[in-house]
Amino acid sequence: DGAEDQREGILVGCGNPLLDISASVPMDFLKKYEMNEDDAILAEERHMPIYRELVDGFQAEFLAGGSVQNSLRIAQWILGQPKVAVFFGCVGEDEYADILMEKARSAGLDVHYQIKKDVPTGTCAVLITGTHRSLCANLAAANNFTIDHLDQPHNKTLVENALYYYISGFFLTVNPPSIMQVAATALAKQRPFLMNLSAPFISQFYMAPLLAVMPYVDIIFGNEAEAHAFATAQGWPTEDLREIGKRLVALDKLNPARPRIAILTQGCDPVLLIQRDSVEEFPVTRLAVHEIVDTNGAGDAFVGGFLSQFVQGKSLDVCIRCGNYAAGHIIKNPGCTYTGEPQFVE
Ligand code: AP5
Ligand code: NA
Repeated sequence: DGAEDQREGILVGCGNPLLDISASVPMDFLKKYEMNEDDAILAEERHMPIYRELVDGFQAEFLAGGSVQNSLRIAQWILGQPKVAVFFGCVGEDEYADILMEKARSAGLDVHYQIKKDVPTGTCAVLITGTHRSLCANLAAANNFTIDHLDQPHNKTLVENALYYYISGFFLTVNPPSIMQVAATALAKQRPFLMNLSAPFISQFYMAPLLAVMPYVDIIFGNEAEAHAFATAQGWPTEDLREIGKRLVALDKLNPARPRIAILTQGCDPVLLIQRDSVEEFPVTRLAVHEIVDTNGAGDAFVGGFLSQFVQGKSLDVCIRCGNYAAGHIIKNPGCTYTGEPQFVE
């Protein structure tokens, strides 16, 4: 149908395409690598044995991951129509890249990977301890993304034709110039640019590039820990999430015609929608412990559900309720995966 065809390619995202290597592990395993139960970190040399150990000793599962790619896959699942969303990121030339490509394409995502030969595709260790998950990303090829990929004529057209843009804070560790270029395109065309705080370490160690892009950001997503990390790094004298949200939306913005919105999730507690001085709460349907398979991907799925409605011009209320629906669904499945047809009703 004509209206649906017009949606092809309207959402563009950039991020780190990672294959998640996920396993339940004892607390001792975390201790051994000096990790905490809810970490999200980048792998250092000392973490490199984790991936082999998970495969050899803990019956690890391989699942499509990478934060932005997760969100876009979930958005595609809910939308049904293929190729509404376009994804850019860098992978190697290997079996892991094939798996990621296959999972993304079968979700209907229009994937345009930059391929870096001789560097392995990135992986993320997902260490599950009960209802917690600790992430350790080895970006590998994902770290080699360069702006000339976006400057390829076909990709350039895809970026220019999109109506919505979504990039994670995670991508700030890889290629800020690409982020700035996409953000500038969004601003010039007066199209929404959405971003995610992604992990506390982004605010702790990548505040300069984060602040550089913030004036372009129309909607900023984050969870509690990420919001607190941002506030701490800014030296804001508050631990009140509502106050942090108000300060986030009040940061400098280049297009004042579209005031910034902050959307802060807090696990099973209500989602906060902050616009100017107003804070609205959206309840979350609490899941029983026995329904929870793992929370890995909950934040990403929330964004995916949100985007699926946002690109259809739905109200923020509907977008957030769909975010909660999507997050609830993937929590009942391993990693950021779904089963069956989406059941979201406006
Ligand atoms: P991500 O999806 O971000 O994992 P996660 O979202 O951190 O999982 P969390 O449970 O922490 O969610 P959250 O805290 O963000 O949200 P909240 O709990 O508020 O990341 C996983 C992926 O990241 C992996 O696939 C990995 O590949 C990738 N990754 C790691 N490092 C990377 C890197 N450097 N670059 C790129 N990718 C990287 O919850 C959100 C919503 O969930 C709530 O609003 C609610 O709707 C729902 N919800 C949460 N808890 C409950 C509950 N108990 N009951 C009901 N609903 C709930
Ligand atoms: Na899950």
